[in-house]
Amino acid sequence: MGRLQDKVAIITGAAGGMGKADALLFAQEGAKVVITDIQESKVLEVVAEIKEAGGDAIGLQHDVTSESDWIRVVEQAIEHFGKINILVNNAGISNATPYMDLTVEAFEKTMTINVTSIFLGQKYVIPHMIEAGGGSIVNISSIAGLTGGSGAGPYTASKGAVRMLTKATAVDYAKHYIRVNSVHPGYIETPMTVDMFKDERMMQWFLSQTPLPRLGKAEDIARGVLFLASDESSYITGVELPIDGGYFAK
Ligand SMILES: NC(=O)c1ccc[n+]([C@@H]2O[C@H](COP(=O)([O-])OP(=O)(O)OC[C@H]3O[C@@H](n4cnc5c(N)ncnc54)[C@H](O)[C@@H]3O)[C@@H](O)[C@H]2O)c1
Repeated sequence: MGRLQDKVAIITGAAGGMGKADALLFAQEGAKVVITDIQESKVLEVVAEIKEAGGDAIGLQHDVTSESDWIRVVEQAIEHFGKINILVNNAGISNATPYMDLTVEAFEKTMTINVTSIFLGQKYVIPHMIEAGGGSIVNISSIAGLTGGSGAGPYTASKGAVRMLTKATAVDYAKHYIRVNSVHPGYIETPMTVDMFKDERMMQWFLSQTPLPRLGKAEDIARGVLFLASDESSYITGVELPIDGGYFAK
């Protein structure tokens, strides 16, 4: 029996990186997975991989900033699997533009993709979780949501907002047994960071910030997300879980 047996999970931004790792692990643990991303063809490849391994999944094209897309995704999840128990708000973008070069449009784009998306996802999924008698929402923030960093104003602001939106939602919906927690990855090798880590000097700098002497992998994050999504964490809500190789231990 899997750790998510018979649960239905929506995972956003799951065409690659951490979202894909979450989707593969969730399916392996018995969940039926609704895999969404703005990149439709890649989402369908993830679905095929899950089905080949004997799992159950559907893939949907989904712009997380679009309210009508959220309404359609939630409707299709319910039509296909009949309920929603888990939501992983993973889709996100980074923005490392120097402060004085930032435009209002670039700032707002980061906030919309990283934060408004989560507001919308929670708004449309929570009524179905109430109907199901509870649920678990895992919002992907960052170490940047817990501490300031150089050259990442909008990203840091957005990930701090994810942390606090998580706590506010946790307080509001605990009475319905809906748990809401945030995960704060450190430096993880994914398509988002591939160019950054190609530069040997940059790579050494990132490694110097992290006591465990390696970068994180998407699977390291997926295992933490799985714990928070599953009933194993049934008395945990409103917390932040750093998965950071010891970054915050220093
Ligand atoms: N990689 C890291 O080091 C790191 C560290 C901390 C936090 N994070 C966070 O982890 C999450 C996953 O990132 P990742 O590293 O796997 O990167 P990634 O780029 O591989 O994954 C992000 C996914 O989000 C999708 N996406 C972007 N805009 C979208 C939109 N408008 N609608 C729907 N999907 C959209 C992309 O297509 C992509 O598949 C992000 O929220 C990111 O901010 C990453």
